[in-house]
Amino acid sequence: MMKKFYIVFFVLALFTSCSKCKNGQSSIDCKVDSLLQLMTFEEKIGQLNQIDAGYVSPEIKAGITSGAIGSLLNCPAQNINEVQHLAVDSTRLGIPLLIARDVIHGYKTIFPIPLAQACSWDTAAVALCGKVSALEAIADGIKYTFTPMIDVTHDPRWGRIAEGYGEDSYLTSVMGVAMINGLQGSDLADGKHIAACAKHFAGYGLTESGRDYNVANTSEERLRNWILPPFKAAAEAGVATFMAGFNELNGVPVSGNKYLLKDILRNEWNYDGMVISDYFSIEQMFVENYTPTRGDAAREGINAGVDMDMMGHVYINHLDSLVKAGAVSMETIDNAVRNVLKLKFKLGLFDNPYIDDSNLGSTHYSPDALNASLKVAEESVVLVKNDSVLPLDASKVKRILITGPLANAPYEQMGTWCFDGDKTHSVTPLDAIKEQYGDRVDIVFEPALDFSRSTDLEGVERAVKAASKADVILAFVGEEAILSGEAKCRADISLPGVQNELIKKLADIGKSLVMVVMAGRPLTIGEQMEQSDATLIAFHGGTMAGKALSNIIFGESVPSGKLPVTFPKMVGQIPIYYNDYKTGRPADYRPTLLNEIPVEARQTSLGFCTYHLDAGVGPLMEFGYGLSYTTFEYSPVSLSKSEIVAGDTITASCTITNTGGYDGTEIVQLYIHDKFASLVRPVKELKGFKRVIIPKGESVTVEFPITAKDLSFYNNSSELVCEPGEFEVWIASSSGLNDNGKIFTLK
Ligand code: NOJ
Repeated sequence: MMKKFYIVFFVLALFTSCSKCKNGQSSIDCKVDSLLQLMTFEEKIGQLNQIDAGYVSPEIKAGITSGAIGSLLNCPAQNINEVQHLAVDSTRLGIPLLIARDVIHGYKTIFPIPLAQACSWDTAAVALCGKVSALEAIADGIKYTFTPMIDVTHDPRWGRIAEGYGEDSYLTSVMGVAMINGLQGSDLADGKHIAACAKHFAGYGLTESGRDYNVANTSEERLRNWILPPFKAAAEAGVATFMAGFNELNGVPVSGNKYLLKDILRNEWNYDGMVISDYFSIEQMFVENYTPTRGDAAREGINAGVDMDMMGHVYINHLDSLVKAGAVSMETIDNAVRNVLKLKFKLGLFDNPYIDDSNLGSTHYSPDALNASLKVAEESVVLVKNDSVLPLDASKVKRILITGPLANAPYEQMGTWCFDGDKTHSVTPLDAIKEQYGDRVDIVFEPALDFSRSTDLEGVERAVKAASKADVILAFVGEEAILSGEAKCRADISLPGVQNELIKKLADIGKSLVMVVMAGRPLTIGEQMEQSDATLIAFHGGTMAGKALSNIIFGESVPSGKLPVTFPKMVGQIPIYYNDYKTGRPADYRPTLLNEIPVEARQTSLGFCTYHLDAGVGPLMEFGYGLSYTTFEYSPVSLSKSEIVAGDTITASCTITNTGGYDGTEIVQLYIHDKFASLVRPVKELKGFKRVIIPKGESVTVEFPITAKDLSFYNNSSELVCEPGEFEVWIASSSGLNDNGKIFTLK
């Protein structure tokens, strides 16, 4: 007892005497080093061990007391003070636990899924989600979350497309940084912010055939230009942690990948935060036969620079013998422990690891949080078709049929990765429309299908009958929450169940049909869009999705979202993305469709370009696409110069006029194509965007400064090069428009 008192006293003395550190060390580094000197080997290894405490078992309590656990994930709020007291009061050095949980798009108040948030192209909206999530989560003791997921992907079959910001590196970079800033604020210890995590480093979004946990292969050029930029941006933004993923990349599991974790992350980018594994991902190197034993997997993980082992138990079980055998150095262990302790100090855990549990839940679902969720949900909706049906005029429409399995599905609209959202707080489209317009419009509800996968046509017939008596049909279709997210991949990405039949039968009635798609991924809905008079892509919009949709459908809010991902016509087109590479037989060369080829055709020169005979050229909807209730006209692009030298800035500008009948917000996009380079370059790349509010009848001139950074790319030798030559610039309302391009030369 006396011994423990002296140690605690010594630790406290060290912390207080550390305010002035030698050699320019920060006071946190100094405290960490002082604490490290006091730690036994076992205590050090314990700090690297994260355990899932969904149920705080006697074994977990014993692990904490013995110093064998440094971090918990999923610990229930009501146990936080108990476990922190065990760590602080019952261990020799009293090091608090790092409490983590997946708070992916909201903790209690659920925001749209990240893919939907990306439709807003609004960094402030994404940061707001981070800020509200942090405030709600920290009240329950959560100091660390595993978001943002910044894995660029080109595959909508992959369920985890829902968790990221779409197909583009630049958009993903800025959205990821916004989320990090929202979660972390400027001071991790201010009681309002929590540590973020850039995941999954790296290449997880390349998973072959969109099957989760599958292999990933890419070239150095694509790795550097597509996959890594969001992670580099996150490191530069000061993200507190990185997570190594489940996948291998070009044959080497990323949780033991020295090239990614050491050479690039630590040495090139100078990242000095903590790196955590994914759940069991270090141990999985053994399962995938990359290492002959679990001990070898632990060696690969720690030597590559993964500081904390999430649930794999391989560090706690094997690091001792690995160090004794000389396979892992003490310096490596100390560096890992240092990164963990540094984060704990930054989070202020040593000052106060406890929560006020007399008042649990009091900060959840506040009016501010719900309003924030509503604002982001409204901005996340994309209008993709409108044959003059929307917005509905509540003073003119007499009867509306609300139908479809997502019309009143409070749980499903929250989407994937939603551990804590309570569906009783969800406002569904049915709730909102009834509440806002029920006094003026006769609202009939026939769900047609119980859930998105239902195949029973009985309800469909009831809906069709009701539709014949309505003026307008609002059909809320899509996917249940569980059909996207981790391990939720689909080979067929059409509307599940008999929803296609539902849309067809409703369309056959000939009334105005509005289709609202609430899903976790792009779906192949070409036919259903043709059958509808208007289509809104809402993805899973969270707690306030229904109110957001009601506001948009009735024109309280004018849609402004744009797609952050390409929608394919058919699954066979995947991967399909806007910034593919220029080929010698581009898709606009000589396409011929299947039915245009005569029978018994000899080898012919018909159709010799890059496309599918049965899908034709191009996607269903391109990246950046989205309509408004108003219309915008773009002037030709003007450039401040026609020639520049490296180091110059050239300004591209364009005047956008609101030519329609509503005030609106337009997302103006800047694309650049490097015309001749030492490697074939993408047909165009997003290099900037602006959300501009343009009142009806007015014009706004938007300017984009372009510098060498925007013209550079990584070559196959991993060098960032900016090569002289011609560049084409477009300022447009989507990636699909090519008519106002201008060319300049870099000398
Ligand atoms: C596995 C997932 O891949 C990761 O994204 C998540 O953060 C962890 N599990 C923790 O739940």
